[in-house]
Amino acid sequence: MATTDAVGAPPAVKSDLEAKKASAQQQIDPYNVAGEVDEQGNIKAIDYDRLIQEFGVQPLSEEHLRRFETVTGKKAHRLMRRKLFFSHRDFDKILDAYEQHGTFMLYTGRGPSSGSMHLGHTVPFLFTKELQEMFDVPLVIMMTDDEKYLYTRNKNEGHQKAGVAPEDFLDFAHENIKDILALGFDPKKTFIYTDYEYLGGHFYRNASEFESLVTFNQAAGAFGFGNSTNIGLIAYGAKQCVAAFPSSYPDLFGLKDYRGPDFPPEAKRRHKSLASIPTLIPCAIDQEPYFRILRDRCERMTDPHPKTSLILSKFLTALQGPGGKMSASDPNSAIFMSDTSSQIKNKINKHAFSGGRESLEEHRKLGGNPDVDVAFTYLSYFLEDDEELEDLAKRYRSGELLTGEMKQRCIAELQKFVTDFQERRKKVTDEVMREYMRPRKLEFGGNPSPTKPKAAANGDEGTASNGAAADGEKAAREDGRGTKGERKAAKLAEKKAQKLAQRPKDAEEGAGGT
Ligand code: TRP
Repeated sequence: MATTDAVGAPPAVKSDLEAKKASAQQQIDPYNVAGEVDEQGNIKAIDYDRLIQEFGVQPLSEEHLRRFETVTGKKAHRLMRRKLFFSHRDFDKILDAYEQHGTFMLYTGRGPSSGSMHLGHTVPFLFTKELQEMFDVPLVIMMTDDEKYLYTRNKNEGHQKAGVAPEDFLDFAHENIKDILALGFDPKKTFIYTDYEYLGGHFYRNASEFESLVTFNQAAGAFGFGNSTNIGLIAYGAKQCVAAFPSSYPDLFGLKDYRGPDFPPEAKRRHKSLASIPTLIPCAIDQEPYFRILRDRCERMTDPHPKTSLILSKFLTALQGPGGKMSASDPNSAIFMSDTSSQIKNKINKHAFSGGRESLEEHRKLGGNPDVDVAFTYLSYFLEDDEELEDLAKRYRSGELLTGEMKQRCIAELQKFVTDFQERRKKVTDEVMREYMRPRKLEFGGNPSPTKPKAAANGDEGTASNGAAADGEKAAREDGRGTKGERKAAKLAEKKAQKLAQRPKDAEEGAGGT
């Protein structure tokens, strides 16, 4: 082993995942979210401006919000208005594509590391759901039971955790799926799947191709992998990347998957055209390293995909305050979607970090700081009314509003959100869940009046995104699933065409030959 290790050891690679954790620098990647730790051991708030610099993403500007409102004809979502979704890559391009060609695909996901979800986990899904409604586009949600299994096995390198099986994570995934669906996704345009159950077909072929484009060194650089990282985790990223390609899901666009050399060329062409549908990924910024790798390579696929657009969120602060995020492994840091109203009340009252002053007198005189106040922060995520939010901040700053009162307002809002959620969750039976998980043609309208309805990038009809979607619909009827009569008629037409092409006088020189 030692000799192979020596040969394979790339010099620039960190020794392993854990080694990075000891660093006192701010660290944000798919496996770590931690603010900077100062010399006294205090955790500082996550510095999002620095993250924008470091990751090379763009801040979401007022101009983007205005453009969003023009294109959709709807008010920008509160999470965008308040810059909780604060940065992006090529968000403008997805708006352009939607404006001109009419559709795109939304993609997001979740790693089911446990059976219960907390408030922070719902944020990207709430946002995605409303984007889906505003744009009327298809959405895929990936549940990465494989990733979480491999990560858990990797944590105790050498002496791997016993008694943990892939099935445990599949079970977590199903529980999480029910939570996600309780947020109210439209079954007509939403497909949700677990990797263990769905991966295969064109998805898997895309994954293989993508794996061939990423070296160990590149994966190690992006995720902090080392020589003792298990090979499953090293390769996993390719799956999360190609999940962004509409061509990974032919069924959703009414197409059949490739079935061998006699697969109709027409169906092949239609499937190729899926590659031109652009994708937008709403997610928390810790997932950005995956999609940086994706964007660098998607145009190098055999069927090149346009660079994926991203819209990236901050993390929902832990109850203890800025510097950490809600974590399922620390029950006092998080409000769970299964918490009762009285648990929510107790957690906020007991644990929520306050931006208020030491004494009532001081608070009245000097005022509080809503920016670090956890109750106010949660309200900024969940309270729809801009005016009320602004008013709460103002009165807190002036000292008129006390910490206890801010907390009370927060408790009421969260209790309502969580109880409504729990009511809907009860209705998500196995049967309901399985309907969302069935690979099937999705129904979506997209932009009702795109500016270039049939236009295509290179003049070939069917390469424009809306063309591809329309193609998908047509193909559903034509790619072999048609009736016997239809297939017979198609064969006759093909023979006729061949005969015509063979008539020397009718055929132009070279036509039909190449
Ligand atoms: N890796 C993500 C997690 O651990 C899960 C995930 C898969 C995801 N695909 C995604 C998250 C796309 C956001 C967007 O939660």
